[in-house]
Amino acid sequence: MSFKNRNINHSNNSTITRRAFLGGAAALAAGLAVPPAMALPPEDIMQIMRDVRPRVIPSSGEKIPAIGMGTWITFNTGRNPELLERRMMVLRGFLAMGGGMIDSSPMYGSSEAVLGRAIDILHGIDGPDTSRIFSAGKIWTQVPDLRVWQSTAARGRAQIEESQTLWGIEKFDLMQVHNLVDWQTHLKTLYDLREKGRIRYIGMTTSHGLRHAELEKIMTDENIDFVQLTYNILDRAAENRLLPLAEERGIAVIANRPFRQGRLFDVVAGRPLPAWAREETGSRNWAQFFLKYIITRPEITCAIPATTRIEHMLENMEAMGGMLPDAQTRRKMADYVTGF
Ligand SMILES: NC(=O)c1ccc[n+]([C@@H]2O[C@H](COP(=O)([O-])OP(=O)(O)OC[C@H]3O[C@@H](n4cnc5c(N)ncnc54)[C@H](OP(=O)(O)O)[C@@H]3O)[C@@H](O)[C@H]2O)c1
Repeated sequence: MSFKNRNINHSNNSTITRRAFLGGAAALAAGLAVPPAMALPPEDIMQIMRDVRPRVIPSSGEKIPAIGMGTWITFNTGRNPELLERRMMVLRGFLAMGGGMIDSSPMYGSSEAVLGRAIDILHGIDGPDTSRIFSAGKIWTQVPDLRVWQSTAARGRAQIEESQTLWGIEKFDLMQVHNLVDWQTHLKTLYDLREKGRIRYIGMTTSHGLRHAELEKIMTDENIDFVQLTYNILDRAAENRLLPLAEERGIAVIANRPFRQGRLFDVVAGRPLPAWAREETGSRNWAQFFLKYIITRPEITCAIPATTRIEHMLENMEAMGGMLPDAQTRRKMADYVTGF
C-alpha cells in the first residue's frame, strides 16, 4: 500500500482530533497501555508470523495472508480517545502478527477516519510495518448528499478520493462496490481507475446471503478480481454456486461475518471446545475453530473478522498457524456445530 505524506492532516471535516489520538500514541509509545495479552512471548509471535500461510489472488498471483481485519462497528469509535487507543493496539497486534487486508467503507461511520489516524500514529512511533497493509475500500452511494447535486458516478469518484484522504493513502489496493449499490455505474468508474493504475483490483460485496443471483451474473459477465460475501460455519449458501463459480472465473473471495457478527459464540456458549476439535483441527478455542473452517475452503482467499480486543486479534491471527483441517474434518466440524 502506498501512503501519502504522513504529516498531512486528514479530511478537514473528520470528527477525530489529532490531539486525542496523539495522547493514545504517547501512552502506547511509553508502553503504558500494553495489555497483558501483548506480553505474548516474542518467540510465539514469531512462530505465528512464520505460520501465516499466504493465499493467492487468482487474477495476479499476488499473495496475501488468509486472515485480514474488518472494521464495521469496531472502528467506528468517533472521538473517544480511550477507544481510539484500544483500536490502535488492535491494529498494532494485527500488523505485528503479519496481517494484510483491512476492509472498511464510507458506510461505517468514523471507521475510515479512525483507521487512518491509527495508521498515521503507528508510522510515527517505532511500530510494526504498515506497508504490508492491503487496503480494501468501498464505494457506497446509498444516501445522496442533499447539499450538492452530483451524479452517482461523480459521487462515487468523490467518495474514493475522500476515503483515500481518510486512510492517508495514495491509492487503494482493492476498491469494492458495497452491497452492489449502483454497481452498473460504479463498475465503469472502477474499470477506468484500474486501467489507469489508480486502483489495483475491483471487487463487489454482499452479505447475509443477499442478492446471490445478481452477484452470480456479475461474476459471469464482468471482469472483476474479488467478491466479498458472507461465509461461515453456519452460513454456507455461497457453497452452492458462488464459490465454485469464483474458482472457475479466477475471482478471489473475501469471507465477511466469519463469526456471524459474534453470534456464533452464542451458539456454542457454555460448551467447551471438544477434545477431538483440539486434536484434529489444531484449534485452542472456538474462534480458531470457526476461522480454520473458513480459510481451509479452497476458494476462500481471506476471512476478515472484526474485533475490539487485542487478545481476540491474537487468537484470530493464530488460527492461520499450526494444524489445519482437511475436507473430511471440515464436514465433521460443520455437522457438529449445526447439530446444536
Ligand atoms: N456488505 C459488506 O460489505 C459487509 C457486510 C458485513 C460485514 N462486512 C465486513 O466484514 C467484517 C466482519 O464482519 P462483522 O463485523 O459483521 O462480524 P464478525 O467478524 O463475524 O464478528 C465480530 C464479533 O466477533 C467478536 N470476536 C472477534 N474475535 C473474537 C474472538 N477471538 N473471540 C470471541 N469473540 C470474538 C467481536 O467481539 P470483540 O470485539 O469482543 O472481539 C465482535 O463482536 C466487518 O467488520 C466488515 O468489514 C462487510
